[in-house]
Amino acid sequence: MTAVGIDAVEVWTGNLKLDLAETFAPEKGDDPEKYTKGLGLRASSFPDSYEDIVTMGANASKELMDRKGLTPDDIGRIDVATESSFDNSKPISTYIAGCLEQVYDGDFHHANKGERKFACIAGTQSVDDAYNWIRAGRNRGRSAIVVATDTALYARGDAGEATQGAGAVALLISEDPDLVELSTHQGYGSADETDFLKPNQQFPSVDGKRSVQVYLARMREALEDYESVAGDVHIDDFVYAPFHTPFPGMVRKAAALAYRHVTRDTGVEEELAEGIGRQPRRESFDDDGQYEEAVREYMDALKETEQYRDWYAGTVDPTLSIARDVGNWYTASVHLARISALKTALETGRDVAGESMLVASYGSGAQAEIHGETVQDGWEEEIAALDIDEQVADRYDLSWAEYEQVHDRHNHETDSELEEFTAPEAEFVFDGWGRMGERKYTYVE
Ligand code: CAA
Repeated sequence: MTAVGIDAVEVWTGNLKLDLAETFAPEKGDDPEKYTKGLGLRASSFPDSYEDIVTMGANASKELMDRKGLTPDDIGRIDVATESSFDNSKPISTYIAGCLEQVYDGDFHHANKGERKFACIAGTQSVDDAYNWIRAGRNRGRSAIVVATDTALYARGDAGEATQGAGAVALLISEDPDLVELSTHQGYGSADETDFLKPNQQFPSVDGKRSVQVYLARMREALEDYESVAGDVHIDDFVYAPFHTPFPGMVRKAAALAYRHVTRDTGVEEELAEGIGRQPRRESFDDDGQYEEAVREYMDALKETEQYRDWYAGTVDPTLSIARDVGNWYTASVHLARISALKTALETGRDVAGESMLVASYGSGAQAEIHGETVQDGWEEEIAALDIDEQVADRYDLSWAEYEQVHDRHNHETDSELEEFTAPEAEFVFDGWGRMGERKYTYVE
């Protein structure tokens, strides 16, 4: 069977930055460590006044096409995943194709375009759609572009305000991929939940504390479902485990629970038992309360063990390096986590070709999906070509008053104009409104 997977990726961050420790925490009267240590975030990315989900997605896609030497004829499908769409009918992929047609010869009239919605997991679902399209033999030798793009804004004063972000990841899905091959093994955990939703409104209604519990519950289901098809997971099977990362502290919680799950009834549990005892089993307790208390104590002790700390530092922490500086990118978040991991491998001189990764996606509402991927021989060249560090370093650092102006500028309910803070260069920009209320874009050299 020919390998199908992610051939290449490109990233585009919003051009502005809000520093959580320096700017956000003092304004809220909070200890900066609530954000840097508790949530695990240093800063969030924001879109400048000329940026939105179309410009960021089109810019990432153009970088992808330029770097891979692609023309519109090479692309048979453009799918956009977003939870920040501004149109209930016309998909964002048509706007992005329109942008790209301004700068390339030819057009995308032959390309199937769509928009996927299931909160943050829609990016992974779009990758799946592209994979299935190629596997079904319907691609006529062409590749698919999947764009995960979001302006993850919360209402001001919402508990989620510290976890905002803005950016896009473009992924090229092809046969014989250079970056990772996707496995056919997948596990799902899906249930009708009301933890985070946007009922025809721009900013989410969120039950933050509950959303954390729903994330963990659905992830556990997905892991069990994955094991039912791929066999039991062993803690050393995967070189990295990229998770959906609304904030790194969320992944810290999920990783500890995953570790407890996969080490149960293994030699690792026995080895750990010498220091912290065996994992509590429900049947050994009279009621749920006692059992849950014992689990909490076990988890606290587990997180202090050298074995757990080494595993976390090697397998999970490298997936969080970009998220710490850019915040939540919703649909793009798990794809950024994959890039972070491989970037760390490159920076530390680790050859991961042929190694497996366990990728854990999540969308509120709610669904988790877990699948395996195998890193391909071309990974180093692909990751070395990314300029995400420069993009992150070049962002304009907003003051609090400027942040409020930017937030208002991107609020669909307010009609506020704002001078840009950065000068666009070699990128698509929002250029005003058309006669039917459509948004218009142009390419700035
Ligand atoms: N030093 C160190 N740590 C500190 C601290 C300090 N001075 N002060 C607080 N902390 C810790 C807290 O103990 C807590 O850590 P633990 O959960 O490990 O105990 C952490 O910092 C956050 O503190 P709070 O829980 O008090 O923070 P909060 O209530 O203000 O906000 C939140 C947390 C509810 C998750 C909020 O950020 C939120 O609503 N976020 C949006 C929803 C979200 O991202 N949910 C995640 C799952 S849903 C999902 O993944 C989909 C998605 O993308 C949205």
